[in-house]
Amino acid sequence: MADFVGAIDQGTTSTRFMVFDHGGNEIARHQLEHEQILPRPGWVEHNPTEIWERTRAVVESTLNKANLSASDLAAVGVTNQRETTVVWNRRTGRPYCNAIVWQDTRTDRIAAELDRDGRGQVIRRKAGLPPATYFSGGKLKWILENVPGVVEDAKRGDAIFGTIDTWLLWNLTGGVDGGVHVTDPTNASRTMLMDLETWDWDDELLSFFGVPREMLPFILPSSNPELYGVTRANGPFGGEVKLSGDLGDQQAATVGQVCFRPGEAKNTYGTGNFLLLNTGHELVRSEHGLLTTVCYQFGEDKPVYALEGSIAVTGSAVQWLRDQLGIISGAEQSESLARQVEDNGGVYFVPAFSGLFAPYWRSDARGAIVGLSRYSTNAHIARATLESICYQTRDVVEAMQADSGVTLDVLRVDGGVTANELCMQVQADLLGVPVSRPVVAETTALGAAYAAGLAVGFWRDTAELEQNWREDVRWQPTMDEEQRERGYTRWKKAVTRTLDWVDI
Ligand code: G3P
Repeated sequence: MADFVGAIDQGTTSTRFMVFDHGGNEIARHQLEHEQILPRPGWVEHNPTEIWERTRAVVESTLNKANLSASDLAAVGVTNQRETTVVWNRRTGRPYCNAIVWQDTRTDRIAAELDRDGRGQVIRRKAGLPPATYFSGGKLKWILENVPGVVEDAKRGDAIFGTIDTWLLWNLTGGVDGGVHVTDPTNASRTMLMDLETWDWDDELLSFFGVPREMLPFILPSSNPELYGVTRANGPFGGEVKLSGDLGDQQAATVGQVCFRPGEAKNTYGTGNFLLLNTGHELVRSEHGLLTTVCYQFGEDKPVYALEGSIAVTGSAVQWLRDQLGIISGAEQSESLARQVEDNGGVYFVPAFSGLFAPYWRSDARGAIVGLSRYSTNAHIARATLESICYQTRDVVEAMQADSGVTLDVLRVDGGVTANELCMQVQADLLGVPVSRPVVAETTALGAAYAAGLAVGFWRDTAELEQNWREDVRWQPTMDEEQRERGYTRWKKAVTRTLDWVDI
């Protein structure tokens, strides 16, 4: 068997390809950003063709750099930004419009209407999701209603839908020349179109969004011994490689963090934050604003479920300091700037740029910085930004404990923001729980590699994967209880200031 497994990680801001060895160690990687297209307030788009080109480029340059070829890879897994919606023509390979990104709020009216009659409750029960702009179903409805030609072509079976995993797998396996049209249950569970108990598209849910079933991909296990397909020799791998893993990026990070037992949780700090708690084969329905989602399905086993707290804006708030306010020149500088002050000086920043996701689910919210005085400086705003990442996490941890009865004794973290030592210390302080980061912090790509490698026997079982996990750093809480609770009360008050801002 070949010595390595590869993973394509197609995220909100960039695409990377990584190669891992049997010990889960990184061998090589390359990463490229793509354009964030922001045509109107609240709209966020990506160009699917650019994403496919970036994917090709990162695969080719990683293989070149490490002097590897297709035959060195036992398998490749794909992981992706979830919910982002692409519709393309299977005969021409051309998308009908830009992809509508998960952060995009143009479907707020569609989401609100679902809750004006009983449909919202059906979606909650069957799909485990509250009707919200976040998920793919409303985005697909918007495309069907607003982009000329899509409905007619969909009826003919030519216009097809996919999340980004589906778009990449279709292209990798030949595109117009026989590409496979597939996805996995973790991605399908983010659409509002799949029933969590049957792991299949549901006709009643499809009727709520006017989606013809022919547009939808086949749902196959996340770790798939039967394979999704093989890469084409004329594609970026330059040969045939087995494609045997496909997971939404947050579920992939849960696998990469080896959270295989019920009660184990991880928090990924990326563009947004996503806290997932493995609930085993049990479907736990949230009473406190969390999502019920598929965590993974390995082979023919029943799916494992998770409770998820999704936060729309965390790392992207730091980007906003850099790109829109211009008060830092790079993400690392948010730490040095915030360290210039002892505390937030009374400033709280609620970055509700896409409304508020878990546990509030308020599309009518917009961002606010409150508590400003003449004393406030850029450093206070930087500090309040880092704190907002941690307070939002506390909101979802509270909801998770209330829903599951599980009390966290440690929070496993990963993702770009975990390089920010101050932010991680603040997180431990504001939660009152230790925070632990593994040696391989690229758990998303690692999880996709694990899913692909398990399918082809590169790894024997999950017990073998658990042995690869090693702690790198642990941050212990140092703040006293009274101070912690005082800050959290203020944060909750700041959140109320953002609500009811946009008319829907
Ligand atoms: O649900 C959205 C999530 O999958 C995006 O993750 O890492 O691309 O920001 P990321």
